[in-house]
Amino acid sequence: MSESVDPSSKSIESGLQESRLFEPASASSLGMDHWHISSIEQYRELHERSIQDPAGFWGEVASNMHWFEPWTSVLEWTPPDARWFVGGKTNVCDNCVDRQVRDGHGDRVALIWEAEPVDKAGNVEIRKLTYLQLQEQTARFASVLRSLGVTRGDVVTIYMGMVPELAIAMLACARIGAPHSIIFGGFSSQAITDRVQDAKSKVIVTCDGAWRRGKIVPLKDNVDAACEKLATAGDAVEHVVVFKRCENDISWNQSIDRDWATLMAEASDDCPCEAMDSEDMLFLLYTSGSTGKPKGIVHTTGGYMVYTAYTSGLSFNLISDSDQVFWCTADIGWITGHSYIIYGILPLRVPTLMYEGAPNFPEADRFWDIVQRHRVTQFYTAPTAIRAFMKWGSEHPEKHDLSSLKVLGTVGEPINPEAWMWYHRVIGKERCPIVDTWWQTETGGHMITPLPGATPTTPGSCALPMIGIDAAVLDENGNELGANQGGLLAIRKPWPAMLRGIHGDRERFIDTYWSAFGAEDSSVSPFYLAGDSARRDDNGYFWIMGRIDDVINVSGHRLGTMEVESALVSHQAVVEAAVVGMPHEIKGTGIAAFVTLAPASTPSDPSALEELKVSLSSHVANEIGAIAKPDQIRFTDALPKTRSGKIMRRLLRAIASGEGQSNQDTTTLEDFSVLAKLQDDSE
Ligand code: PRX
Repeated sequence: MSESVDPSSKSIESGLQESRLFEPASASSLGMDHWHISSIEQYRELHERSIQDPAGFWGEVASNMHWFEPWTSVLEWTPPDARWFVGGKTNVCDNCVDRQVRDGHGDRVALIWEAEPVDKAGNVEIRKLTYLQLQEQTARFASVLRSLGVTRGDVVTIYMGMVPELAIAMLACARIGAPHSIIFGGFSSQAITDRVQDAKSKVIVTCDGAWRRGKIVPLKDNVDAACEKLATAGDAVEHVVVFKRCENDISWNQSIDRDWATLMAEASDDCPCEAMDSEDMLFLLYTSGSTGKPKGIVHTTGGYMVYTAYTSGLSFNLISDSDQVFWCTADIGWITGHSYIIYGILPLRVPTLMYEGAPNFPEADRFWDIVQRHRVTQFYTAPTAIRAFMKWGSEHPEKHDLSSLKVLGTVGEPINPEAWMWYHRVIGKERCPIVDTWWQTETGGHMITPLPGATPTTPGSCALPMIGIDAAVLDENGNELGANQGGLLAIRKPWPAMLRGIHGDRERFIDTYWSAFGAEDSSVSPFYLAGDSARRDDNGYFWIMGRIDDVINVSGHRLGTMEVESALVSHQAVVEAAVVGMPHEIKGTGIAAFVTLAPASTPSDPSALEELKVSLSSHVANEIGAIAKPDQIRFTDALPKTRSGKIMRRLLRAIASGEGQSNQDTTTLEDFSVLAKLQDDSE
């Protein structure tokens, strides 16, 4: 349960009140030809149609894409299994790249890349790839993968920095029907090991290093450590392809390491796109859940392709072959990067910008420098970044010409109205609509969001369901709740980009998203349960209140509290650990860890305890990645538990957020002295 949820009440309390309403600007006032959806009435009409006749509606949308063979039916739905564009044959890389070249757009810029390093004269490296160049590179790398024995259905693991070669590698996988599993470059070698093992991947594509805030992240070293562990476990990796980006020292294992540049120079650029079945897997993407083990979310070909392109166009008002430049600041290692840097954007022929590094390198104005340099028109970022910009000061954006901006977006966590207003005033100059897009790794694309030319916006609300999405707030019996009652956020109809499963774990898939309302009933529910709580206001606008499972959103990135707990208890000094979220000024939610030490490992002097905290923090970073480092570690003799032995996280959350125990129900608490001790320590 997250902070905003009170499990003892029938419906979930929701305190946020915000009534400011911002009407959409006219397209012409933003120098735009038109809005794809230009009024709330038009939105409502289209939404209604899409819900009443999903097959007719999505069939029409899908016919904008290129299919080698048409589908025989738009949707087959046997909850929880959806099959979209059944029997259709297509290829996502073809739609992103080859088709654009075939249609005469080979010379248009597909991807703009800006490197992180800045030289003494202030110059930065920029690469622009046209569709033709992207096609040539992608075909070549597809040939490379084939030469390494990769065939349709083989999962290729990609662990790279934000370089164009990452886009090339993923598109090359799509080209030959090899699903990719991209691991965010901030994850540790243990995270690579777990994911490679789960996906049974035999090929890893990586970089020697990645630039981050002027330093080199040693990606290849992390892969080496993972390969060693995998070999010992009998799951040896066969090939590691290394793109040399930073020229940092790396060790080279002749038997498995392969040099990207050498392979590319030898490879043929004649490697046509495979005709994939609409329901063939396009990629696996691991995300955190409420157990210690991340789950591999399965996305397939046709539905994901259609939905990401459609929602990209609508949410950001992307207009093909115009002067637009779209920039999503996410890392491709997250779903946001998959859907809204690559797959949704490339088919629309709006250049997609990829930036390699940190937002504050070399200075805190780097993002605004980039917006100005490339005349960015649509800018998509996370609330945590906006809060950091606020903290760094408005003078940084104010130094730059941001007049090219037309639409602003946010994603990843609820945006606090203060940050929304800052974004609106300082970045959008009160001209640009803000789209607060609610969605998830599992949903593949935007689910609830304003449409920039149609939906009046209110700071903090993600507004209304996307066209084609039937979203609702339900009580624990599956009944729809009335206005302003908090409950479970659910989607009542299938949509094209929905996840098709959790890799290798059917039971977890059903339990997590489709378990029927009420514990005794084991039948599969026809509703997708998002794991978030929400309410709708009097206007039907959605307000996301937070997670209702043991998942926390740290800087907009999902982490399972159990993952962090497992990492902590794998340290030799730790006996038990409980991790909860706590309010954090920049991250939104920070990580608080309550840790019980083995008596023999409990240092008596305070400085040794502080050292132990540091060592526990870096242990977590080694096990998972730096994003999982606790913001606060508290040592305790024991954890507060119910009589049945469940850790009382609610109490820990109250303590971590400084609320104390006063309004918490403690009747099931096993040992009151434990709580008293924890509170003493927190004062
Ligand atoms: O809790 C919601 C939050 O992020 C979760 C999904 O995380 P992930 O799968 O990592 O995907 C993040 C990028 C799509 C959701 O369950 N979330 C995402 N967007 C929003 C949000 N919470 C509130 N408002 C949003 N706009």
